[in-house]
Amino acid sequence: MKGIVLAGGSGSRLHPITLAVSKQLLPVSDKPMIYYPLSVLMLANITEILLISTREDLPQFRRLLGDGAHLGLRIDYREQPEPRGLAEAFIIGAEHIGDDKVALVLGDNIFHGPAFSDVLAKNADPDGCVLFGYPVKDPERFGVAEIDDEGRIVSIEEKPPHPRSNRAITGLYFYDNEVVDIAKNLRPSTRGELEITDVNRAYLERGQAKLVDLGRGFAWLDTGTPESLLLAGQYVQTLEARQGVRIACVEEVALRMGFIDSEACYRLGAGLMKSDYGRYVMSIAGEQPASTSHRWPAPFSHQ
Ligand code: G1P
Repeated sequence: MKGIVLAGGSGSRLHPITLAVSKQLLPVSDKPMIYYPLSVLMLANITEILLISTREDLPQFRRLLGDGAHLGLRIDYREQPEPRGLAEAFIIGAEHIGDDKVALVLGDNIFHGPAFSDVLAKNADPDGCVLFGYPVKDPERFGVAEIDDEGRIVSIEEKPPHPRSNRAITGLYFYDNEVVDIAKNLRPSTRGELEITDVNRAYLERGQAKLVDLGRGFAWLDTGTPESLLLAGQYVQTLEARQGVRIACVEEVALRMGFIDSEACYRLGAGLMKSDYGRYVMSIAGEQPASTSHRWPAPFSHQ
């Protein structure tokens, strides 16, 4: 599968914080927000990634992530000139996707939970689409899926005023190659955007939409407002301080997935050694026998 991270938008609910910097580059505890969705794609074993953002913000993402080679990735960049909706990612990214399947992750979505990499691996070769659902107390703010007794999706609605369930559709989507054609044939919604929900509805009509429930033991965190951004940072910091491990440390994920070896990981850490983060990366590299890398021990319990 190819990967796309969509990191556009003006972050207007975070103004003035986001007047001069992209929302997806803001810190969530000890690392930029974009590390969290990026690590999700990496955990899905995706190494060819397209990052889509605005013309103003792209240079900053490039400065942070470069061509991705240091992480064993290939990261390309494309501009979304106007905020014309999430589904436009498949049109902008058509060349990147080629004949492959694709995972889209929104640059402000934070996922953390038990055996997440197993869930990703199990669903990484979709026929149709795979959506990831999560129970929330304010579903009217999200795409919402209604399911029947057998767990099949009955309806999908975007920000319905009267939601038919509390199951939000999170900002991680797996699609087969049909998604490019589906996106090209969409009409803009009343707010003038190509809606991801309309893509998902097209798959639902074909009987090819699957919902994977992430469940209440999982954390899917919001970063849209100053308060939720701070809470997300506190969640990460609480777990990291308690367990001594780091969530969404992209160097660690690259090592565990076998994208880089332990020497390369050590060098990346050494380049950041004045920070605790950098020293953590060095220590992780030191735990691995030279020149080999291993996946996390099963059960894989963190991202
Ligand atoms: C978008 C999608 C929505 C989804 C959400 C997840 O909403 O349109 O269906 O539930 O992302 O973060 P937005 O954040 O653009 O309002």
